[in-house]
Amino acid sequence: MKPSELIWMNGEFVAWADAKVHVLTHGLHYGTGVFEGIRCYDTEIGPAVFRHREHLTRLGRSAELYYMPMPYDVETLRTATLKLIGRCGLKSCYIRPIMYRGYGQMGLNPLEAPVDVSIAAWEWGAYLGDEGKQNGIRAKISSWRRISPGSLIPASKASGQYLNSVLAKIESTKAGYEEAILLDDHGNVCEGSSENVFIVWEGRIVTPPPAASILDGISRKSAIQIAKDLGFEVIERNIARTELYMADEVYMTGTAAELVPVREIDDHTIGEGVPGEVTRAVQSAFDDALHGRSERYREWLDPVPVRAGAKAA
Ligand SMILES: Cc1ncc(COP(=O)(O)O)c(C=O)c1O
Repeated sequence: MKPSELIWMNGEFVAWADAKVHVLTHGLHYGTGVFEGIRCYDTEIGPAVFRHREHLTRLGRSAELYYMPMPYDVETLRTATLKLIGRCGLKSCYIRPIMYRGYGQMGLNPLEAPVDVSIAAWEWGAYLGDEGKQNGIRAKISSWRRISPGSLIPASKASGQYLNSVLAKIESTKAGYEEAILLDDHGNVCEGSSENVFIVWEGRIVTPPPAASILDGISRKSAIQIAKDLGFEVIERNIARTELYMADEVYMTGTAAELVPVREIDDHTIGEGVPGEVTRAVQSAFDDALHGRSERYREWLDPVPVRAGAKAA
């Protein structure tokens, strides 16, 4: 990770090296935090954050689901983020806001613990590599099932829940694959460790519905809209494991990974073993939207105001 100059912590900008928490921070022990992964791109209209308000709104929703009051509203966090990017002089970066139960209360009841908020931003390339984006990745079906809605809240992007993704990621990495795909409680295809999954079958695009324990990804929503705008039919329904193996094309979407073709799953070649036509079409339009090259999706971008770079308070 390449450190930036500053991090925003509870309303103040602090030096990257000074952004510390107490060892008895509640969230560190019990996973009582919620977070977001957002990206800012160096676009034709300058640095701009992709679907900024949607991400911060999801942060608020994730918090509410865990009974965590949000100490700052969406607009305050949005402004702080834009200022942070400007003050750090970043053009394209990954943004990580986190809201968590802080120091002052131990034990499982977090309701009396303070809620702290930080926002960090740093330069971070394609999560699954440029080569993966270009030629596709190899994925493995995880032996770990995606967290069940009977035990946790799949729709919330909560820190503790990510132990599930961490286990899947470790397993797939150790086995020599680039990503894990988790099945849900019922054995249907759910999602990657940090991406949503799409298959292409007889020209139609199919993806699991929100009720399948997925995190309803903002990239997923964007890629669905783009695919429909391109004239493809997009169907949200459960997908069986073997449908993945037999699909003509498979791709995944997520803020960190962007849109990544999958060329192999459990050593089964997908289609021709190279990114297919539909994947390429959606990927190219999606990349245009991210990088501000598409007029149609400009409203998805939140430009960093020039004055946000001023070294003011
Ligand atoms: C478990 C999980 N699923 C899906 C996604 C994709 O969501 P988004 O497109 O909003 O980044 C992510 C990444 O945030 C994730 O962590």
